[in-house]
Amino acid sequence: MMVGIMVVVYFSKANKMVPFAAQKEEISKRSVEISCSKDYADELRHFQGCIPKKCGRVIFDTLVTTSEVAALLNIAERGLSVGGSTGGASILDLHSGALSHGNAFVNIFKLEEAKNLFNAQDFKIYSHVKNKIHHAIANHFGISRSGLYLTHPTFFSRITPVPPQTIHDEYWHPHVDKETYESFHYTSLLYLSDFGHHFDGGRFIFIDKDSNKTVEPRRGRVSAFTSGSENLHCVERVTGGTRYAITVSFTCDPNHAIDDPTVNR
Ligand SMILES: *[C@@H]1O[C@H](CO)[C@@H](O)[C@H](O)[C@H]1NC(C)=O
Repeated sequence: MMVGIMVVVYFSKANKMVPFAAQKEEISKRSVEISCSKDYADELRHFQGCIPKKCGRVIFDTLVTTSEVAALLNIAERGLSVGGSTGGASILDLHSGALSHGNAFVNIFKLEEAKNLFNAQDFKIYSHVKNKIHHAIANHFGISRSGLYLTHPTFFSRITPVPPQTIHDEYWHPHVDKETYESFHYTSLLYLSDFGHHFDGGRFIFIDKDSNKTVEPRRGRVSAFTSGSENLHCVERVTGGTRYAITVSFTCDPNHAIDDPTVNR
């Protein structure tokens, strides 16, 4: 008897993974507030009205429409068809043009085979969706929209189970966004594929002291969170299929703002 009980306790402690958003549910809005880390202390007086006073996480499954997701997935597939990492993780950044290519990156806007790959409509949908996420984040965290800017890197990602070839393929290490990219204040992800359907593994995990919370990717799901160490996280390794997502990043610092991408460049 004793042994049985101890085994149960052991497993529940070692593998505590609580879904914050399961793939099968459609969540119009779900949020949790978390006390902010001290990471923002030095910036409070510089970017008043934008630095989070309340930190946390929020999910929106109905902000982005099915047709917008289809259009964005099509952009990702088209862009990545002219490149792609030899390892399992590839990115396409329509702002800078960065595209994974073999073991390095190229500028997609300078690639001959990518001429006329994108049209004005592509950029229009991309900007429109980005604006909706921008508004939803400002609204949820109670900050001024005009003081919050899109920042670099904002990019499409494609993950497959192919073994890593370079450090750029290793997306699964636990990290804090604000440590990786100093300019980040709010991070968001828009998922373009379904966990358990288009791919296996690849859940997003918030690493908390007592238990880990997962966000299972779902087409059209937006997951947004404050970028400090209150939101230490990782992505599980993808074990099958292909996972597409967009990382949309925001800063309170106008010096790190980036413009919408355009077709004429
Ligand atoms: C949470 O996930 C991290 C990283 O995968 C792991 O090291 C840690 O043991 C997990 N914590 C719990 C309580 O399961």
